[in-house]
Amino acid sequence: MFKEKGMAEEEVLGDLEKLLARDATYSSGHPIASMSTIPNQLGVEVFSKTLEKNAGRLHTFKGSARVEQQVVHMLGDLLHLDSPVGTTTSGGTESNMLAMLAARENAPKEVKKPEVIAPKSVHSSVDKAAWLLGVHLVKTEVDDVFKAIPFEIEEQISENTIAIFCTAGTTYLGQVDPIAEIGSIARERDIPLHVDAAFGGFVIPFLKDAGHRSYDFDFKVEGVTSVSTDPHKMGMAPIPAGSLLFRDTKMLDMITRKVPYLRGASATQASLLGTRPASSILATWAIMRHLGRQGYRELVKECMQRTEHAHDRIKQNTLIEAAIEPVMNILGITSKERDLDETVEEMEKRGWRMATSPIPPTMRLVVMPHVTEGAINAFFNDLDLVTTTIPAN
Ligand SMILES: Cc1ncc(COP(=O)(O)O)c(C=O)c1O
Repeated sequence: MFKEKGMAEEEVLGDLEKLLARDATYSSGHPIASMSTIPNQLGVEVFSKTLEKNAGRLHTFKGSARVEQQVVHMLGDLLHLDSPVGTTTSGGTESNMLAMLAARENAPKEVKKPEVIAPKSVHSSVDKAAWLLGVHLVKTEVDDVFKAIPFEIEEQISENTIAIFCTAGTTYLGQVDPIAEIGSIARERDIPLHVDAAFGGFVIPFLKDAGHRSYDFDFKVEGVTSVSTDPHKMGMAPIPAGSLLFRDTKMLDMITRKVPYLRGASATQASLLGTRPASSILATWAIMRHLGRQGYRELVKECMQRTEHAHDRIKQNTLIEAAIEPVMNILGITSKERDLDETVEEMEKRGWRMATSPIPPTMRLVVMPHVTEGAINAFFNDLDLVTTTIPAN
């Protein structure tokens, strides 16, 4: 595979084009369950002009360091935190790992078997973080609309509890856990509460103006100690762009390590990664400034209108149903009448790039900006056909 002699540029590009022809494109609308989308054009421009910049070496890239701080502050504004501290990350997985690491390092020395409590609807990266960090993850039940049950969480608190993790915008259904109630419990017991708003962070703040129910999910809730939000999801930024904000510098200190061979701003790093692209941070900065709250509000409004349209199409097909009333631009489709895996297989054969979720068993729709009304109609035309042609359960 790795040849001795280099190939001509055109030949390389031709081969690559052939290989990438197998990729789905967002513009086709086929990735119907993706949480990423076509990044904002200004962000793409900034990203591609700044590829050499390394956010692991902020002493060398002092301008990028300043931009990262401004991103943290803009996100603090969005999430109701006046003096935010934190770091940009590669996405929701890294943010959850760092939030759990901070909690583990913050725990009293007497805690020998650290435990994190989380509803079973948390993203799988929370399991991954627990696995990597030697933390026992205690999963609690969810209610009939798949929200965390505060009482169930409270019941599990022990002297080993180092943190509670909740979600604002669950991966499976876009559900928001009752953060205010869980926040009170966390505060009363002096336990850190991390809110994973990887998806919801750029949606929930704009729901009310789009005519939908709003939720207190961020630092407005006093017991919340950290919030993660991904610009590379509904923030419209190019991958990899995540963030983790803490209320308290003490928690940031818990994940900050010295890098002995670097100087100045690079001599300590809070991210899990060393060398990492500054370009996605710079693109995030540009997009947030360019779109402003108004731009995001319009995006959320549009996505919610299309979500309602998709919800109507679900209601029109008697063989399927929505798992819950949509909270944000995520829909889970269930069926008592048809086998989900078979349905998904058939839809994949028709070019749709599908996703399924375990809790509850659903196929998922994430109505990102690339999922246009045309794509939704084409999807449901196919789904109507598939559900009527495959055998009944
Ligand atoms: C709620 C939530 N948290 C974390 C993640 C992980 O994000 P990433 O894939 O960017 O690491 C996801 C991804 O879907 C998510 O939905």
